[in-house]
Amino acid sequence: MLQHFFGLFYLLAVSQLLSFTGSHADECPVQLNPQRVIVKYGGSVSVNCSTSVPHKGMGWEASEGSVPMTRDSLITWRVSELREWGIQPSCFINYNKEQCTVYLPVTIYKTPDSVSISTVNHNGPMMEGNQYELQCDVLNVAPVQNLTVNWYKGQTLVDQTIFTDTIKTPVNKTSKLLIRPDRADDGAQYWCEAKLELGEEGPRPPPTASSEHLSITVYYSDCPVQLNPQSVVVKFGGPVSVDCSTYVPHKGMGWEASEGVVPMTRDSLITWRVSELREWGIEPSCFMSYNKTQCTVTLPVTIYKTPDSVSISTVNHNGPMMERNQYELQCDVLNVAPVQNLTVNWYKGQTLVDQTIFTDTIKTPVNKTSKLLIRPDRADDGAQYWCEAKLELGEEGPRPPPTAPSKTLNVEVYYKPKHSSSTETIYINEELTLNCTVKANPAPTYSWHSEHLKETISSSVLRSSTLSSGIYTCIATNSQGTDGKVFILKSTGAQSFCSN
Ligand SMILES: *[C@@H]1O[C@H](CO)[C@@H](O)[C@H](O)[C@H]1NC(C)=O
Ligand SMILES: *[C@@H]1O[C@H](CO)[C@@H](O)[C@H](O)[C@H]1NC(C)=O
Ligand SMILES: *[C@@H]1O[C@H](CO)[C@@H](O)[C@H](O)[C@H]1NC(C)=O
Ligand SMILES: *[C@@H]1O[C@H](CO)[C@@H](O)[C@H](O)[C@H]1NC(C)=O
Ligand SMILES: *[C@@H]1O[C@H](CO)[C@@H](O)[C@H](O)[C@H]1NC(C)=O
Ligand SMILES: *[C@@H]1O[C@H](CO)[C@@H](O)[C@H](O)[C@H]1NC(C)=O
Ligand SMILES: *[C@@H]1O[C@H](CO)[C@@H](O)[C@H](O)[C@H]1NC(C)=O
Repeated sequence: MLQHFFGLFYLLAVSQLLSFTGSHADECPVQLNPQRVIVKYGGSVSVNCSTSVPHKGMGWEASEGSVPMTRDSLITWRVSELREWGIQPSCFINYNKEQCTVYLPVTIYKTPDSVSISTVNHNGPMMEGNQYELQCDVLNVAPVQNLTVNWYKGQTLVDQTIFTDTIKTPVNKTSKLLIRPDRADDGAQYWCEAKLELGEEGPRPPPTASSEHLSITVYYSDCPVQLNPQSVVVKFGGPVSVDCSTYVPHKGMGWEASEGVVPMTRDSLITWRVSELREWGIEPSCFMSYNKTQCTVTLPVTIYKTPDSVSISTVNHNGPMMERNQYELQCDVLNVAPVQNLTVNWYKGQTLVDQTIFTDTIKTPVNKTSKLLIRPDRADDGAQYWCEAKLELGEEGPRPPPTAPSKTLNVEVYYKPKHSSSTETIYINEELTLNCTVKANPAPTYSWHSEHLKETISSSVLRSSTLSSGIYTCIATNSQGTDGKVFILKSTGAQSFCSN
């Protein structure tokens, strides 16, 4: 009984094995190159089918680009504009009295005709804490199983939708996003993006199409009016205008301000406007009477003024600086506002070396001083220091931020002579030059001493063909100090004899 069971099992296994190998693609001696294709709708495609075995004929079967049976061993399926969504090309070969076939997997993709974003069943501003639905419509895209819809708020990815349909032809798809905005979302920009993830063989980067940005307005502080813009940054003496509007029925609204008042009116959009704003402390507010109460929203106003002058100087010092002493530079910024948005940048040449910010909250123009301590060294001789006043007024402010540079302050540094090596050995030959020249500020004077010299020589270079071997000492001197250098003069013969 047991034997019988195993025998049956054995027979079954062998017959399965036979039927599998008989139809397995590896057993059909043709090679596709490439083995699969991912092609844009309407794009061109070509795939080779080749064999290395003797055969009685091979060909391509397809609804477009078919290749009739031939004795060649390499045949190409080629379509210049592929527009058949369901195409299933196959390469067949007749050999060994049989025919076998290999199918080419084809993925045809199409980027969307449009991607659009909208709010579902709602218009106008949203109320803080309520729920709303956004919708992203993607038109005419394929294949949908490789489509991802990404939702963004500003630059942040907030949600993703994928689709599982296996349909290959283009479809319209909708993705929805529920939001519950709060006051921080006022002015937020939502948008969506359709992305076709077609794998490694697909186009890189994956094709994407984005919707427009949908900017949402959120009402909060129980006053249902909207200021546009919500805050302003104005140059002193410049023009300004801000709208206040509402969607709710009301009994009257107006602007209160020390300049540019708008008396109460039944209109639903009123504008505060000043052509030359010169009131530092101005605090305009929009008010509205509705539902038996009155409410008010105040407009934040920043008035700025670029400095009358920016100047640089050295504190309590004139003339050249001494190496490694400490000095103080000063940058004076006159008549600038608002000082809490002022930065003073210190530069040495093109390099930013220090920054000062100010924390005063005063809104009217002030004079400000920034100081910089420096301890110059010889490399700083000739350095150019300067400072710059910059008003960083945020996104609503002028771009680029207004800046005012000082003139440059050229620093002169006095430093003593210092030779890079204190001795030098020189072998006597025809053109003999002992060069004691060294950098120093002020320029040094030189003197030479040697038992072979009868008089003191004051040049930095000693040049002679009559010097005899021995020791020559040069002293370089300036107001900052002294540095000596010893030249050891040897005859060329001495070189080879003096082995120790
Ligand atoms: C197909 O074969 C032709 C002729 O040998 C060759 O020029 C072409 O590069 C081949 N294409 C691919 C994708 O291998
Ligand atoms: C997709 O939507 C567009 C516009 O509404 C329509 O013209 C088209 O027929 C739709 N396509 C499909 C496949 O439903
Ligand atoms: C398309 O998506 C399906 C399902 O996620 C995946 O199996 C397939 O590899 C994708 N196609 C390509 C060409 O990447
Ligand atoms: C007006 O007051 C009523 C009753 O208090 C309230 O239901 C309604 O929402 C209010 N309208 C507005 C626009 O706030
Ligand atoms: C700033 O300095 C200038 C020149 O020293 C002076 O005329 C002006 O009154 C000063 N302004 C303030 C606000 O102190
Ligand atoms: C000015 O500076 C303050 C303090 O750094 C900052 O809070 C404010 O946003 C700045 N104003 C503008 C208009 O950027
Ligand atoms: C001496 O050395 C200085 C600095 O290295 C150099 O500029 C100058 O040309 C030299 N003079 C001679 C005569 O070699």
